[in-house]
Amino acid sequence: MNSAQNNPAIRVLGIETSCDETAISLIEVDGATRKVRVLGNTVHSQIDQHVPHGGVFPMLAKREHQTNLVPVLQKTLAQAGYKPAASAVTALPAEAEAVLAREPELLALMRPFIVEMPRPDIDFISVTVGPGLEPALWVGINFARALGIVWNIPVVPCNHMEGHIVTGLIKPDAGSTTAFSGAMAKFPALSLLISGGHTQIVLMEKIGSYKIAGDTRDDAIGECFDKVARMLGLAYPGGPKISKLAAEARGQNIQSPEPLPRPMIDSGDLDFSFSGLKTAVLYLTKRLAEKSASLDAPNDTIRKGICREVEDAVTDVVVAKMRAAIERFGVESIIVGGGVIANTHIRQALERLAEECSIGIFLPQVDHSTDNGLMIALAGYFNRKSAVPASTALKAAGTMPIGPRAF
Ligand code: KG4
Ligand code: ZN
Repeated sequence: MNSAQNNPAIRVLGIETSCDETAISLIEVDGATRKVRVLGNTVHSQIDQHVPHGGVFPMLAKREHQTNLVPVLQKTLAQAGYKPAASAVTALPAEAEAVLAREPELLALMRPFIVEMPRPDIDFISVTVGPGLEPALWVGINFARALGIVWNIPVVPCNHMEGHIVTGLIKPDAGSTTAFSGAMAKFPALSLLISGGHTQIVLMEKIGSYKIAGDTRDDAIGECFDKVARMLGLAYPGGPKISKLAAEARGQNIQSPEPLPRPMIDSGDLDFSFSGLKTAVLYLTKRLAEKSASLDAPNDTIRKGICREVEDAVTDVVVAKMRAAIERFGVESIIVGGGVIANTHIRQALERLAEECSIGIFLPQVDHSTDNGLMIALAGYFNRKSAVPASTALKAAGTMPIGPRAF
C-alpha cells in the first residue's frame, strides 16, 4: 500500500489476453475518494496478423500474446514512470519457470525482464481467466502468476464480461485523460453486454451480483457484424467498417436495396438471434450478384446501403429488447459494455431510450469499449477480496457465465 495510512491507495496491474488484444493497464484507486488514476495503459492489437484468416485464429493469438506481453508490460510501466534498473531479483525463481513451462517464447523474454526491472509498487495483479479463447487466456494467466511469484504479490482472477460492465462506471474528470471518478449508478440496473462473443441482458442488484435475463440463441452481435462485413468484402473486424459505411449512407441518403429482418424483435422474451440477419444479407448479396450489381468496388452505394440497414436492424432489436427489459424489471440505470458499444449509432439510440425512460445510462468511453487492460484492472479492484497467492493454480475457462439465468 503506498499512501495515506487510513485510506491507502490501491495499485492494480490488469492483464487481458482473452482474444486478439494483448493489453495491460496500471491503475491507482484512491482509498478515500475512489478516484481512479490510469498510470499506464497499453493495448497491442493483433488484428493485422488475424486479417488473412478472416477472424481470430486461437493458436496464433496464443503465440502473439507470448511475444507481446513483456513489451506491453514494459511500455505500461514506462508510462507509469518505472525505468529499468538493477533488480533485487537476479534470476527467475524455479516456481515461475515451471508456471511458464508451456510458454517458451514468453519464458525467454521474462528471464531478462525480471532482472532488468525492479519490482513496481503494485498491490496485486488482476487477470482475465474467462470467457475467451482458452489458449489465449492461459498465456495471460501464467504470465500474471509468474509475475506475482517474482514480485511476491497476489493475483485476482477476473471475468472478462464483468470488466466490460465496470468500465462504464468511471467517468473522465474534466480536461483529464488519466483521472476518472466513479459514476454513481443506481441499482437495480440492467447491463447490456454486446461484444464479439456475447449479447446479453444482465440484471444487476449491485456490482458483483448478476443474473442473465436475455441471451443470444446463436451469433453474438459483434460476430454478426464481422460475418456480414466479410460477405460484403470488408476486412476483419467488420464492426467499425460497417459503422463507418452506415454513417456515410445516412449522410448521403443511401438506402438498402431491400429491407432486412429484425430477428426476434416481437418474440416476447429478452433473447436474441442474429444468424437470420446474417443469412438474409447472404441471400441479398447473392441476388444482387445475379443481377450483376457488383459488390466488388470499395464503398459502393449498395454496400453502404446494406451496412446502414444492418446497423438499423441490430439497433432496432437491441433497443426493443432493452425497452422491454427496463419495463419488466423497473430498473434505475442501464450499464452497457463490450466492443460493439464503440458504435455511435447504437450509443445514441440507447442514450435516447434511457432519456425516454428517465433512467441513468452508463457507457464506457469509446476507446475503452473494445478489449483493454483497464477494464480488468477495474474488475480486479472490485474483486480484490478474491485475491489468491500467485502460487495458486488458476484455470482458463473458455465459457464462464457471469451469473445464473434469471429465469
Ligand atoms: O469486446 P470486444 O473488443 O471483444 C470481445 O470481447 O468479443 O468486441 C469486439 C467486437 C467485434 O465483433 C467488433 O467488430 C465489434 O466489437 N466492434 C464494433 C465496433 N467496434 C468494434 N461493432 C460495431 N461498431 C463498432 N464501431
Ligand atoms: Zn470483450
